[in-house]
Amino acid sequence: MPLSSRHLLGLAGVPKEDIQLILDTAVTFREVLERPIKKVPTLQGKTVVNLFFENSTRTRISFELAQKRLSADTVNFSTSTSSTKKGETFKDTVRNIEAMKIDMIVVRHQSAGVPQFLTQISNAHIINAGDGRHEHPTQALLDMYSIKERLGKLAGLKVCIVGDVAHSRVALSNIFGLKAMGADVSVCGPPTLIPKGIESIGVKVIHDIDKAIAEHDVLNVLRIQLERKAGSSIPTTREYHNYFGITADRIEKNNKDVVILHPGPINRGVEISSEVADGPYQVILDQVTNGVAIRMAVLYLLGTMNN
Ligand code: NCD
Repeated sequence: MPLSSRHLLGLAGVPKEDIQLILDTAVTFREVLERPIKKVPTLQGKTVVNLFFENSTRTRISFELAQKRLSADTVNFSTSTSSTKKGETFKDTVRNIEAMKIDMIVVRHQSAGVPQFLTQISNAHIINAGDGRHEHPTQALLDMYSIKERLGKLAGLKVCIVGDVAHSRVALSNIFGLKAMGADVSVCGPPTLIPKGIESIGVKVIHDIDKAIAEHDVLNVLRIQLERKAGSSIPTTREYHNYFGITADRIEKNNKDVVILHPGPINRGVEISSEVADGPYQVILDQVTNGVAIRMAVLYLLGTMNN
């Protein structure tokens, strides 16, 4: 069965079967990554453009490696070196790239909704690599893959998303994806960093970090997004760390079985201590490895569709 959509714009409304298909397909590609020659000919002759309008290390390199390992031809676009700097509109930039005959676009943009807009002006398959505070579907997929790898399942697990939920696209994609897969999802943070009314999408709100650690199988710890003005929602980063930081002490006191995820980049000593970020409870670098397999799966499933 193919995916039910020809784009991956977010995980809102994506059926469980699609998520399962991507996770299962990624298992095969994860094996390819263990081979001495980490390359398969699956997307030979297909062209992918990476349109990155916002900074990225992990996501961008991960998508590029995934494309290379599937033998696709890839080109990279970044705003700092492009003609958007000369005043060209976004639409004209895309129309020109499209005229060069491309099959897929991976897009990261500071504005929510840009991937959706691209589907209206391009015939390519569109993959959202993060749009504003909206969604970051491949991050949530790799998070789910990493949880399943560690705990063997998603259904019935208790997962808490901790920290700057208000400014995070990772939070929303995780909530939609995990709920579709039958997990029980909560969010934890100071009231200023939790959007009002978030309960309406079926998550529980907790303000006590010790309780969050004690009552959950998994914590997905988010970065405090200082570039999105999160600093004005907390007294100081030090204060935030004192009340909500994930430390080894807190884990040892409350729940030594908890699994810690973080999408990166990490602010060490703010949302998570170095001891935890490098310690036995976390799967942070596994997430990065799994990210390449997840992106290979998404590129493969969309790139080999008949339309
Ligand atoms: C996230 C992002 O850019 O949305 N990082 C990532 O993709 N690995 C989260 C973040 O910036 O904190």
